[in-house]
Amino acid sequence: MRTPLIAGNWKMHMTVNEAVELAGAVARLSSDARDREVMIAPPYTALFEVARALEGSNVLLSSQNVCWEEKGAFTGEISPVMLKDIGCSMAIIGHSERRHVFGEDNKMVNKRILGAQKFGMVPVFCIGETLDEREAGHTFKVLESQVREGLVGVEISDPATIVVAYEPVWAIGTGKTATVVQAQEVHAFVRELLAGMYQKNVASEIRILYGGSVNPENVDALMSEEDVDGALVGGAALKPELFDRIIHFQ
Ligand code: PGA
Repeated sequence: MRTPLIAGNWKMHMTVNEAVELAGAVARLSSDARDREVMIAPPYTALFEVARALEGSNVLLSSQNVCWEEKGAFTGEISPVMLKDIGCSMAIIGHSERRHVFGEDNKMVNKRILGAQKFGMVPVFCIGETLDEREAGHTFKVLESQVREGLVGVEISDPATIVVAYEPVWAIGTGKTATVVQAQEVHAFVRELLAGMYQKNVASEIRILYGGSVNPENVDALMSEEDVDGALVGGAALKPELFDRIIHFQ
């Protein structure tokens, strides 16, 4: 049984006070969420205070990235040890904006995943093809190399130690969502790939989230698909009334 995970990626939004307020709202909205998990990923500057605001709630806390080293000369980076220290248990890694705006490649994504796991954080490993890649018929090839290269040397014996998020780049922040058929097709493909890389009973339990313009109107249909185990939500995660409906998908 894969417990659905609804994750909010706040990106570069929210001052500390705004973040604490929104986190409080998410904690309240999630208090009745028994058969699903809720996670939020505020910006680094707000993580410490948000961790305090979430105490006693069942909302999980994630960073939006993580370095692979514990400490050292890595200006601008934050280590897994620092994040765990403030109560952050998950880390989004390889988000399309990291890949496409900041030039992170599969190799760097792999290092970050290894680093997160080494220090006991759960990576939310993002993959996704661009519109050009999809139109050229390269979707599966691109996703396969992202998965294989991103997971080099990554051992997964417990499916709870990693989450995969499929986010077609052309659907992020654009209002265009993949159809449920497109999403399911990719999720099934990714699960099959994982089944070839890890023990079958482990691969079948790894959660694969869908991300890209998830909203109250499309969440129910997406979540009804067999291999869609949750959502990674950007824009709609900043609005409590929208996120509320997404958390309470049917
Ligand atoms: P969006 O972002 O929901 O605003 O499309 C999703 C994401 O980038 O994680």
